[in-house]
Amino acid sequence: MDVRTALKSGITQLRNAQVPSFTLAAELLLLHVLGRDRTWLYAHPEESVSQAIAERFQALIARRAAGEPTQYLTGRQEFWGLEFEVTPDVLIPRPETEHVMEVALDRLALREARAGRPQMTSGEGFLIADIGTGSGCLAIALAKELPKAKICATDNSSEALVVARRNAERQGVAERIHFVQCNLLEGLESPVTSNQLPRTDLIVSNPPYVGRSETVTLPIEVRKHEPESALYGGEEGYELYADLVSQAARNLRPGGILVLELGHNSLPAVRPLLDAPTWANVGVTNDLAGIPRVIAAERTPSLL
Ligand SMILES: C[S@@+](CC[C@H](N)C(=O)[O-])C[C@H]1O[C@@H](n2cnc3c(N)ncnc32)[C@H](O)[C@@H]1O
Repeated sequence: MDVRTALKSGITQLRNAQVPSFTLAAELLLLHVLGRDRTWLYAHPEESVSQAIAERFQALIARRAAGEPTQYLTGRQEFWGLEFEVTPDVLIPRPETEHVMEVALDRLALREARAGRPQMTSGEGFLIADIGTGSGCLAIALAKELPKAKICATDNSSEALVVARRNAERQGVAERIHFVQCNLLEGLESPVTSNQLPRTDLIVSNPPYVGRSETVTLPIEVRKHEPESALYGGEEGYELYADLVSQAARNLRPGGILVLELGHNSLPAVRPLLDAPTWANVGVTNDLAGIPRVIAAERTPSLL
């Protein structure tokens, strides 16, 4: 069989199985088994495919047709222009989460400008926390953008942290990211118990925010294959935000920034949590579909 025939057969099978983006999925799976890039694929349509490769490709096509996400089959997903390893232990990073990066970097630049420092910061002296790090995508992308910042990344899943650590090593930022297995921010050194002042400059989080009540509305790729602990925030979905916001208030220094990703219906539950005098400059950013996707706020000097 040649490359063109293999690809056509994969596309047909995925189309018949009503897989979304079936052409792209077949291409990615073929590139994966061939160990080639897309330019090679279209420059060598007549190249023959060995029996072993054809069988591996067919096995992946069958798994994709049965609902496994392409990213778990190839073990890869791009986020913020970086390649991340993904396994079924971690959520597949989503394009919407790049809005968390944009808002966090904009807010930091504004804070630096207000303090009369250059907006293009290396993050020297910054302490950042990523809560529910999963694959590590936010922590690692921030470490790349702010090459002198120190980052603490938490997750309650030890399996996810193994993947996140590997990603940090692959991206060359592992020595600046401290991975902690804990509930939300509980494993960070608590300023309340240690008698220290809160020191964190930026807290980002994309917490689990799908409601158990919404399970049936999720595509099979998500419902059956992504980790439940990465998806569900509770019966309604927004249950984790209250603890996240109150723990963030205790850990951020005055002027520190909180940036949270929102579920499609989380805003009405989350916005009031930031009405307290501990928060100022609350802003909401919509995603490309017009859904309120990110909420950000600044810690005031008020006591809790
Ligand atoms: C929606 S995923 C986000 C993963 C990654 N930050 C991203 O944006 O792709 C949420 C992550 O939070 C973790 N998680 C869930 N509940 C948690 C908790 N109570 N404390 C810490 N991490 C939690 C999950 O294991 C999962 O890795």
